[in-house]
Amino acid sequence: GKEAEAGPARSPPGGVAASATSCLLPPLLVPEQEEDQEHSEAHMSVLWFAGQLAITYYDTEDCSVYFMPDTPDNEDLKLLQKVIGEVLPQCIMTSAKQDQNIAKFLTNLKDTADDKDTRKPEIVLFPNTDFGLEVSKQRILSRQFPFIPSHMTATEKILYLSSIIPFDSPLMIRALGGLLKFLDRRRVGVELEESTVAVPILAFKKFVLSDIVNMDQDTYCVLQIFKSDIHPSVYKLSSGLKEGFSLYGILNRCRCKWGGKLLRLWLTRPTRNLTELNKRLDVIHFFLLAQNHETVLTLQNCLKNIKNVPLILKRMTLSQSKISDWQALYKTVYSAVGLRDTCRSLPNTIELFQTISRVFTDDLHYIASLINKVVDFEGSISENRFTVRPNVDPTIDEKKRKLMGLSDFLTEVARKELETLDNHIPSCCVIYIPLIGFLLSIPRLPTMVDKSDFEIKGLDFMFLSEDKLHYRSARTKELDSMLGDLHCEIRDQETLIMHQLQTKILEKSEVLNSVIEYTAHLDVLLALAVMARENAYCRPHFTHRHGFHIKDGRHPLTELCAKTFVSNPVNSGEATGRIKIITGPNSSGKSVYLKQVGLIIFMALIGSYVPAAEAEIGTIDGIYTRIHSRESVSVGLSTFMIDLNQVAKAVNNATERSLVLIDEFGKGTNTMDGLSLLAAVLRYWISQGTQCPQVFVSTNFHSLMQLELLPDTPLLQYLTMETQQDGDELIFFYQVKQGISTVSHAANIAALAGMPVKIIERGVEISERIRSGKAIERIDHPSKGDQMERCKSLVEKFLCLDLDDPCVDLEEFMRKEVLPSAASVL
Ligand SMILES: *[C@@H]1O[C@H](CO)[C@@H](O)[C@H](O)[C@H]1NC(C)=O
Ligand SMILES: *[C@@H]1O[C@H](CO)[C@@H](O)[C@H](O)[C@H]1NC(C)=O
Ligand SMILES: *[C@@H]1O[C@H](CO)[C@@H](O)[C@H](O)[C@H]1NC(C)=O
Repeated sequence: GKEAEAGPARSPPGGVAASATSCLLPPLLVPEQEEDQEHSEAHMSVLWFAGQLAITYYDTEDCSVYFMPDTPDNEDLKLLQKVIGEVLPQCIMTSAKQDQNIAKFLTNLKDTADDKDTRKPEIVLFPNTDFGLEVSKQRILSRQFPFIPSHMTATEKILYLSSIIPFDSPLMIRALGGLLKFLDRRRVGVELEESTVAVPILAFKKFVLSDIVNMDQDTYCVLQIFKSDIHPSVYKLSSGLKEGFSLYGILNRCRCKWGGKLLRLWLTRPTRNLTELNKRLDVIHFFLLAQNHETVLTLQNCLKNIKNVPLILKRMTLSQSKISDWQALYKTVYSAVGLRDTCRSLPNTIELFQTISRVFTDDLHYIASLINKVVDFEGSISENRFTVRPNVDPTIDEKKRKLMGLSDFLTEVARKELETLDNHIPSCCVIYIPLIGFLLSIPRLPTMVDKSDFEIKGLDFMFLSEDKLHYRSARTKELDSMLGDLHCEIRDQETLIMHQLQTKILEKSEVLNSVIEYTAHLDVLLALAVMARENAYCRPHFTHRHGFHIKDGRHPLTELCAKTFVSNPVNSGEATGRIKIITGPNSSGKSVYLKQVGLIIFMALIGSYVPAAEAEIGTIDGIYTRIHSRESVSVGLSTFMIDLNQVAKAVNNATERSLVLIDEFGKGTNTMDGLSLLAAVLRYWISQGTQCPQVFVSTNFHSLMQLELLPDTPLLQYLTMETQQDGDELIFFYQVKQGISTVSHAANIAALAGMPVKIIERGVEISERIRSGKAIERIDHPSKGDQMERCKSLVEKFLCLDLDDPCVDLEEFMRKEVLPSAASVL
């Protein structure tokens, strides 16, 4: 066959590149097929040894191996927990000869994951020899990878692989060795393929979790970062779950699938790496400048056409590609070239643009022109199979020409056949049916009723279809031997060419992986920029000092629902106001304020602009929360247990760089107990001085202040939500101000709730008396009942008097009936 020749690994062969750089044909406009929703699974291999952890897993969705080089993790295996929570592996494998600690961890994982929405991972133990270092190295180096060109020498291959796999991370290499063994034994993803088809591995992708900000699932939940699922899994969202109202939901303006996934990943991995955060913010800043609006539109347009390349590559390795895959790939590559050209025209001070300019190599041109030269899209669409263009393979062209000329030729043959046929037969034609061959087709005459009537001398009857009788004749047999296999041959040859094309493209898949990685990056940052522009977010500035200064902060979700949203500041410094105690009546906005602080800080830590007028953010290493979610209706001891659990986490793990948000601590327990515990926790933090975390506590325990349970220190700051009494009504301003809310406003809230005025008045009276230490008088005294009776009878008697009667002596009546009783009334 004559195809574009194979070139060296990275640079395209001169001829092809030269023709390609001139101009690429834009993709055909054909209706797109919906992408199939693939069921994806992850299989993980972990090793923990001497305080080092190595994790590697295979994701069937993009056929990639993800690995975390050897990283310190202590005995509670927090990193492992985090990755398992993100990835939700189907299966976790480790060595049978493992440290007890990790064995226990994995067993507990199995037992406690009783949530019906999370599948328990299957724990698989392999003999320790399967994780041997040398064995594992050999297993990696001897494996065939589609992205490694077949002409590479063994040495070149080793060099290439060591540039992407850290062979100096022994634990990781051993875990990877075990993973490969596992994949091949289970035949993950290729269960239904022939045994010669290996599990495809299309890329190796490194991840590091060294600078992650600590946040637990509860925090993700109460801050409404993710809504639809319990787990903020990056990998498992796609399966039809609808994202509810959440931070992810409002930020996800991504245009391609892998952009949405990357945003999710960023949300699960808020980072302390300021270099990384500032890089992201620089790009958003650039997109927000008015003069770059055109560029933004151009980039967004290109992004639309970036398709699910990992899925396409996977189908190619398994030889399951469809014609729509070829179109999607061409479209993607064509648009990627457009993106690169745009990025090349942008300032190279922004690293992302520089990277795209560099890593979107001319291999893209090579791939595009290869597809363009080989694939006959129009023909493929009309025949619904892969067909090649003319001039790709002369033998195919020759065969196609024969077939083209065939119809005239067959008419001629049919004419000759008709001459030899009985005169009753008015017409006939010669047709070709793949796999059966050439046939003589004759219309069924009314006289032909039974099968025996179909017999014609000199012809072999084959079948009846659509009122036409089909026969083989001497001539058609001759045609069969001459041309019969033409169709099949063309089909086979075209399939072969498709395989060659696939191999060539897979060998260049490195550039396609880069395309997916960096377009996802661009996509997320464009989405964040759109969000920032539409909602007037500001760029957060990071400082190495502790504390925050946020001017006019808003809650990113609530502000979208409320007609007007009152913005509020957040200020805390090195030695002042590290602990904020927020009081105020229910529904005055305390919880919203707490969550808003959490969300603004969180958004800054993923590199997004934030809903505020100005934001200066100190270093943060963790966010700890105890905020009651609206769903948790059960108030009681169990709530209090959860409370304690979460607060204990904060007390044990929060550092001076942590943010702690506690809403209504002690709900559900006896007031005195709750109050004492809260005071104890706060006093503990106060005693830490400048090592104290940034704490925001909202409380209804006014006695915390009244009983002066806390020391007088500048670390402590009291905030309250501004309200105003307007007659009977309580007006909420949702404005934070310094101070303590002394009034409970219970009376107003009771009135709003429709409580009878008499009862409220009595409540206020009692409350006042308790406050001022006066005795409380009973109002249900027994003598009162008698008095009532006497009054009633007096009124009755009075009404019986006939005032028009001159004989009635009113004075007498008054003296006899009223005065004595009046005296007792007074
Ligand atoms: C921080 O991120 C940058 C990339 O943005 C990376 O080069 C650097 O190694 C990271 N720093 C650490 C300590 O991981
Ligand atoms: C309102 O505040 C009281 C204490 O003042 C508290 O006990 C109650 O749980 C709060 N109600 C709601 C619905 O939060
Ligand atoms: C965090 O706190 C919990 C207690 O709630 C404790 O079990 C865990 O070991 C602490 N983690 C670290 C890293 O200190």
